[in-house]
Amino acid sequence: MRIYEARDYADMSRKAANIISAQVIMKPNCVLGLATGSTPLGVYCQLIEWYQKGDLDFSEVHSVNLDEYCGLSPDNPQSYRYYMNEHFFRHINIHPEYTFLPDGGNPDPVKECRRYDKLISDLGGVDLQLLGLGLNGHIGFNEPGSAFEKETYQVSLTESTIRANSRFFDREEDVPRFAYTMGIKSIMQAKKILLIANGEAKAQILKDIITGPITPQVPASVLQLHNDVTIVADQAALALLAHS
Ligand code: GLP
Repeated sequence: MRIYEARDYADMSRKAANIISAQVIMKPNCVLGLATGSTPLGVYCQLIEWYQKGDLDFSEVHSVNLDEYCGLSPDNPQSYRYYMNEHFFRHINIHPEYTFLPDGGNPDPVKECRRYDKLISDLGGVDLQLLGLGLNGHIGFNEPGSAFEKETYQVSLTESTIRANSRFFDREEDVPRFAYTMGIKSIMQAKKILLIANGEAKAQILKDIITGPITPQVPASVLQLHNDVTIVADQAALALLAHS
């Protein structure tokens, strides 16, 4: 595991965007695994800026996202498809038909999950997977207790995640209770993993995933077993590690 300490959110975003840029430059037809949440927004902004300057070309890149809420259509502003289009895809030259997320509108979880697994494998797997970190250690929507062996599956969201994500919705009741997510096994199959975290709220969980026991109770702790993980976090998120 390589850990880079960033001064603040902007510095974290720039350092992480640099790593993604390097991937796209070295392998223009790479498969990027992408994430949502508030943490990656700065990374996407930075990549857009470099694209607009002419330094990056996404025309051959394919992307697969980690997760999507069940029951939200792509044009619902709370869906992750909408988020990705709005915050990243529509600003760069990636082909819309090369961008993939689980289909939250597919009511058949078995079919949808198998379809998504096949799609990822047909693309040749993920070259670089970007990850945020949930307050309870979740990655994608793999909540505490998720089996490490799973590929894409339908998950029932925990109360803590529903509460945390309700800030994006008008009312907590509006947060979907289910989501499709790449499983831990899918995430671990990525060739490289880039996890980003910022702010003091993430300090304890970041320490736990790096130095604590590897356990399904702390899903991101499994990353200790991957041979190419980079963590970019700001000083606030790394505060408890620096002094341990
Ligand atoms: C959501 C997403 C995760 C994300 C997490 C953290 O639950 N499914 O992929 O990492 O939130 O979000 P944030 O970056 O807003 O802290």
